[in-house]
Amino acid sequence: MTSAAAKSIRPSIRKAVFPVAGMGTRFLPATKVMPKEMLTVHDRPLIQHAIEEAIKAGIEEFIFVTNTDKKILEDHFKPQDKLEKILSERGKNDALNIIRQSNLKKDQIKITYQDEPLGLGHAIWCAKELVGNDPFAVFLTDDIILNDHGCMAQMIDVYNQKGGNVIALENIPKADTGKYGIADAHQSENNIFVIQNLVEKPNPEEAPSTLSIVGRYILQPEIMTYLAAHEKGAGGEIQLTDSMAKLIKDQTFHGLEFQGQRFDCGGALGFIEANIAYGLSDPAIKDMLLQNLKKYK
Ligand code: G1P
Repeated sequence: MTSAAAKSIRPSIRKAVFPVAGMGTRFLPATKVMPKEMLTVHDRPLIQHAIEEAIKAGIEEFIFVTNTDKKILEDHFKPQDKLEKILSERGKNDALNIIRQSNLKKDQIKITYQDEPLGLGHAIWCAKELVGNDPFAVFLTDDIILNDHGCMAQMIDVYNQKGGNVIALENIPKADTGKYGIADAHQSENNIFVIQNLVEKPNPEEAPSTLSIVGRYILQPEIMTYLAAHEKGAGGEIQLTDSMAKLIKDQTFHGLEFQGQRFDCGGALGFIEANIAYGLSDPAIKDMLLQNLKKYK
């Protein structure tokens, strides 16, 4: 079968789940009132970086798994009439275009609630009705990836070739395996791996490799069957990684070592580094930023 023919029989990835109910405790006091997904890298919040990557990948429906205190996240993607009116009256057309670019259509955002912080696996399970029987993408907004093409678009290319489930992978220092899900995998071609097993946050001595899961997934809807068991794993939480490890027995999982620079914005170091890297990617401030950074050696 040609790859074009293979592509045509796969359901396309139209929906993405964004688990955004977390309390952001690693980012206090910034997140005392403001959701961590609204923290700004360069000129836009983390959630907007993720949505833009999703749009580049052809995603049309955005499912937020949220909590009742986070209405600001939906509002960010709705037209802000008062602001648009003022900008329009003042002839600030550039600013008007910038804010309009983040407006989504009303039916593109779907909201569901995670009432208790029981873990990532539980958050994804909360989206089961909205996901339905379609394969879907997952974006963890702590992870942002600087790449013109976009990490999810690269993963969809792999999905169109291979089908099944696809996870973004990154090689990390051995000392860091306890911070991430880790894949037991072998390389099949170029940057694509066949995954045999996944382990959530293993100690370096027990880790099957140094290939860590980055917060981008393409999952088949059958993952919900395993998540429904609500079994607790690492850290006493319901882990997505544990249910994926069970689904591997029935379905293929490929890993993609993607092109692009990933920043773990779940902590101050990655977040500040992301701001510098995204700032340096903006021609309007690059030279001055480089110049100014020299002061801090
Ligand atoms: C989650 C996942 C983990 C993955 C990581 C990527 O962990 O459970 O497998 O490697 O995201 O950022 P968390 O960062 O929520 O602890």
